[in-house]
Formats: sequence, C-alpha cells, structure tokens
Amino acid sequence: MSKNPVVAVCGATGAVGQEMLSVLEQRNFPYSEIIPMASSRSAGKKVPFKGGELTVVELTEKSFEGVDLALFSAGGGTSEKFAPIAVKAGCVVVDNSSAWRMDDECPLVVPEVNPHDLDWHKGIIANPNCSTIQMMVALKPIHDEARIKRVVVSTYQAVSGTGQKAIEELENQVRRLMNGQPVVADVYPHQIAFNCLPQIDVFMDNGYTKEEMKMVHETIKIMGDPSIKVTATCVRVPVFYSHSESVNIETEEKLTADDVRALLAKSPGITVEDYPAKNSYPMSITAAGEDDTYVGRIREDDTIENGINMWIVSDNIRKGAALNTVQIAETLIERDLVRVP
Ligand code: A2P
Repeated sequence: MSKNPVVAVCGATGAVGQEMLSVLEQRNFPYSEIIPMASSRSAGKKVPFKGGELTVVELTEKSFEGVDLALFSAGGGTSEKFAPIAVKAGCVVVDNSSAWRMDDECPLVVPEVNPHDLDWHKGIIANPNCSTIQMMVALKPIHDEARIKRVVVSTYQAVSGTGQKAIEELENQVRRLMNGQPVVADVYPHQIAFNCLPQIDVFMDNGYTKEEMKMVHETIKIMGDPSIKVTATCVRVPVFYSHSESVNIETEEKLTADDVRALLAKSPGITVEDYPAKNSYPMSITAAGEDDTYVGRIREDDTIENGINMWIVSDNIRKGAALNTVQIAETLIERDLVRVP
C-alpha cells in the first residue's frame, strides 16, 4: 500500500495492548492513525502514546471501516467475533489470542522462523502462544542445522501472561501475606504468591493442560514439520514478567554444546548468556523489558546419543505477545501484504 496504514489496537487497555502501543512507539512503526479500542467499560479513557494521549473507543461491529490493520489482544471470544467482521471490512488482523491459531486458513507466525507463511494469509494471521514463540526462536536454527526429533520442555511462566488482573492478584496476595492477612484466589484456582501451580489453562481429557497441548501443536505448525515430537509441562510461577523454559532436545545429527552456542549467537533475536564460571545465565529479570530471547545453561545430555539441554528466557508480554505481533505487522508491510486477498 502506498500510504501508511490506519492501525487499530483492540484491547488497548490490557497488559498486552498497552505494550503493543509502547512497541509501536519504540519501533517507529509507520502509521497514518492509531486507534485504541477496548470494551464499552473503557470508552473515553486515555492511553499514553508518543508523549501525548489517545482516547479509547468502544470496539463494535462498525469499528473497522477505514482501518487497514488491526492488532487484537482482547481475549479469544472477542477475536472470534470481531476478526471476521474486520476482515469483511477490508482490514488485515494480527490476532494474539488462541482463537485462530490452529485454523488451516490462518498462518501462525514467528517472523524469525516462518515469515514466508504470511504470503498465504487470507486476512487473519495468528500470533502463537507466548511459551511457544520463545522456544521457536531458539529451536529453529538448531532444527535447520541438525533436525530436532524430540523436545521435552518444562515452563516457568509469569503471571502477566494471564493479563492485568493476574498481575494485580499476585501484588495483592504478596501484600496481604506480608501483613499476616488471609488471601483470596480469584484469577487462579490457588494462591499464586510464594507458590508454583502446575496448571496453565484447563485440563484436557489426556491429562495435559490446554497450554501444554498448544506447545505441541503450535510447534509443528510453525516449524512446518509434523515429525517433531514435543512433550510439555507448563507451570505458573510467582514472577511478574518473563517466561523461563528448561528445554531438552534430541537431534538427528550430533551437535556439541559449543556448536549450539555458536549457532544461536549468530541467529536473529537471540542473546546467548552462558558463563557458568561467573554464575552468568539468563533470568526473568534479564529478559524483562527486552526484545531478545535469552539462552544459557547449554550443555550436552549424555543420557542419549544426540541430546542438548538449555534454558530459554524471554519477556512474555514483549516477544511472547506485543513485539511478535508488531513484528508480524512490520513483515506484512515489508512484503506488501497489508490487504485482504
Ligand atoms: P477493558 O479494559 O475495557 O475490559 P487483559 O488481557 O490484560 O485482561 O486485557 C484484556 C483487554 O481486552 C482489555 O483492553 C479489555 O478492555 C479488552 N476486552 C475484553 N473484552 C472485550 C470486549 N468484549 N470488547 C472489546 N474489548 C474487550
């Protein structure tokens, strides 16, 4: 398109929506207008943008006339309802919810991994699950080099992944416990302060949670390789920002720990921090507020022929959500794909 796009941020008052506005600002994203949208509860509220303020408008069926690009992070139900309406109005949607991820008509994209999948979009592009995105950034260069056969991942996921209410719940529970007061669990089924919950999202019939199965199915779709086996355990931890992951992989070809370090160090979107002698490795506080995915604790798994263990940390609200969504939008512009085919 010749003019800069009119961009809607749907869910602009939420944890991810606010970060989307920051990322658009920080990356100097080209636009002719930015329209923050949320529910009727927020209509008229102000959100900060580029030193000034934008007024939030209510997201309705008529919101997308004249909008070229909509970045959605307003929950699955909202995306399910409004994304097709937006597309009908000629607007391309990049959706951060899980609503469209496994739809065969919708590409599921991590720009460092499968930007080519944007070429076949039909109006809706899905942003993957936060835990999957950071794992894909780190595993794609290894898969290209040595073919990954199997992945065993355990996650340590921050509460911001659940949204603004969960951030407030952790804050409130910590404050109350420090004052000797009882806590109420509202967002999560149990107390999250000073606790780890081996449950993210609902349980499925197979005993895994929905989050764990997202990591399995989304990995295959993004890598475009149904032969990769993934098994996951997803855990919510009392951390505000950044997801951490312990990842064990088995590859077809042999790679040493040094090979993996060298490979990842030259790959896009990755910082390798791996100096055990200096107690230096990625932590939640390392990645919080940053764009890169951090990888450390890289070592060979001697219990199998070609095995590697590593620790992957990334800001779940940035690379896991807002940043990846904006990078998809940037790639759409670069490839001249901001139009509904
Ligand atoms: P609102 O603040 O008006 O409720 P989070 O994931 O941090 O909880 O944020 C969810 C975001 O999605 C918020 O901006 C919220 O707006 C928005 N949202 C939730 N439900 C709707 C809806 N039905 N229509 C439009 N926006 C919605």
